[in-house]
Amino acid sequence: MQIIHRRDFLRLSGATLAVGTASWLTGCARLGQVQPEPTVSGNLTPDFSPDVELALRATSGEVALLDGAPTRVQTFQGEVLNGNAAVLQALPYSYLGPIIRVRRGQNIRVHFTNEIDSETIVHWHGLHVPAAMDGHPRDVIAPGETYVYEFQVNNRAGTYWFHPHPHRRTGPQVYAGLAGLFLVSDDEEAALDLPADEADIPLVIQDRTFDSNNQFVYIPNGIMDQTMGMLGERILVNGQPDYVLPVATRAYRLRLLNGSNSRIYKLAWDDGTPLTVIASDGGLLAQPVQRDFVMLAPGERVELWADFRERAVGTEFQLRSLPFEGIDMDSGMMSGMMDSDSGHSGMMGGDSGHSGMMGGDSGHSGMPHGTQALPNGAELSILTVRVEQNVQDSATLPPQLAPLGFLAPADARNQNAPRTFTVSMGHMEWLLNGRTFEMEAVAQDENVQLGATEMWEFINQEDAQGRLDMMGMAHPIHIHGAPCQIIERTPPSNATLKTNWEAIRAGYIDEGWKDTFLMMPGERVKILLHFADYEGLYLYHCHTLEHEDGGMMRNYRVQA
Ligand code: C2O
Ligand code: CU
Ligand code: CU
Repeated sequence: MQIIHRRDFLRLSGATLAVGTASWLTGCARLGQVQPEPTVSGNLTPDFSPDVELALRATSGEVALLDGAPTRVQTFQGEVLNGNAAVLQALPYSYLGPIIRVRRGQNIRVHFTNEIDSETIVHWHGLHVPAAMDGHPRDVIAPGETYVYEFQVNNRAGTYWFHPHPHRRTGPQVYAGLAGLFLVSDDEEAALDLPADEADIPLVIQDRTFDSNNQFVYIPNGIMDQTMGMLGERILVNGQPDYVLPVATRAYRLRLLNGSNSRIYKLAWDDGTPLTVIASDGGLLAQPVQRDFVMLAPGERVELWADFRERAVGTEFQLRSLPFEGIDMDSGMMSGMMDSDSGHSGMMGGDSGHSGMMGGDSGHSGMPHGTQALPNGAELSILTVRVEQNVQDSATLPPQLAPLGFLAPADARNQNAPRTFTVSMGHMEWLLNGRTFEMEAVAQDENVQLGATEMWEFINQEDAQGRLDMMGMAHPIHIHGAPCQIIERTPPSNATLKTNWEAIRAGYIDEGWKDTFLMMPGERVKILLHFADYEGLYLYHCHTLEHEDGGMMRNYRVQA
């Protein structure tokens, strides 16, 4: 497998712009050469002194992913303009963007240039940055334009990521390949001596459907995929199918990101070894925790301590996603949809051909025909670990990791009267408190005070009578601008939903800082947030990207 960029294409659209941008960046028109002034927005402030200065482009290319024709993708390409070259690490043979590695406290400046054919903007998922640096959809730039980001990285050490955030186009752009990891380190983390370098492995989990010519297929089932979320038929890890991770007999730090548009995973080792979790969205936990399985919804990250010292060279094992009930098949909306959608039976044609992915079990009992081939909750193989080499390794798991500095619920100005946000579906629109996304709009109950600590409660669709409103689906809720603590989860009252919830709840990693949390059908989740440092408009939304694009996103405003 090999990355092949179509050079002609890059020369036509990408490279010309990149040259123009680069000479402008160095601040001098070389040898009197006249460059057209590029359209630049964002910040470019003379008194900001960057420790790291990067050029980042969203561009088009081709990657050989499967045997036969290469796959057309969109991809982030990066270049270090100033600073240590190790800040960027390309993921070989992948459409994924470069891994950006910075230290807490560093000032970074990124010149982002749009070289794809539609409006876009980059969002730094999980980073606490000023509103104008957050990649709000109102800040989209047109093809050919540049947006300059300047901010100080003040997050805890951890696994963050970046992806496009244009309204109604986030789903297709991420699916086309636009995403990358943003890893932050700090002294606290360095003192722990965790597995590093080749033993610190990022694993970005995504799913894609390919057509017979090896091209990505987006929402082939139309309204069904927009409603249920785009669910691909094949699992890709770090942009590659059938991922094999070669390891030695030592301890590893595995950084998992669910970069899928809509697929939720219930991750477990296939031999029943428990997972040891050391970090979540917002960095290290206070102590490691052990789980038989871990739920990972779109946007969420989890870091594992994986000790392969007792494994024999030559053995293989798998990270799998275990089956679970991700939707409520009984609710009226769902069954109506299944019936009326039976025209799409092509997707379920007898020769579905992904028996390899299904690991032999023919799928999800109880799924009616006429729906997506591999529903959320289907059993899957994620990757194969192959033990290839014997090494001596004495790394030990630290019993204490890093202090969290959590807030107390009593710090909240509304501890006993949380702001509530109800998730529902209107006329083919996803809603938060009955409202759809409006670019600049902030409702009265979406204003918060700078410096305040608040309790918020998200409610997944059950009404006061304990009935499901229209349809029961899981939603991963993501909040920009402020990390959160999970305070309390209230199970669904509906008996079936409660049974489904009981089967996955042990996989929630609620011990650390979060920015994205899964909410199962009928579940309520109470969180604590603190609005520090920056005023302005921030987003909160469902990270099922088809729901986000479908309007399940709102602004909140932080005001002094
Ligand atoms: Cu990862 Cu608002 O998104
Ligand atoms: Cu985000
Ligand atoms: Cu959703």
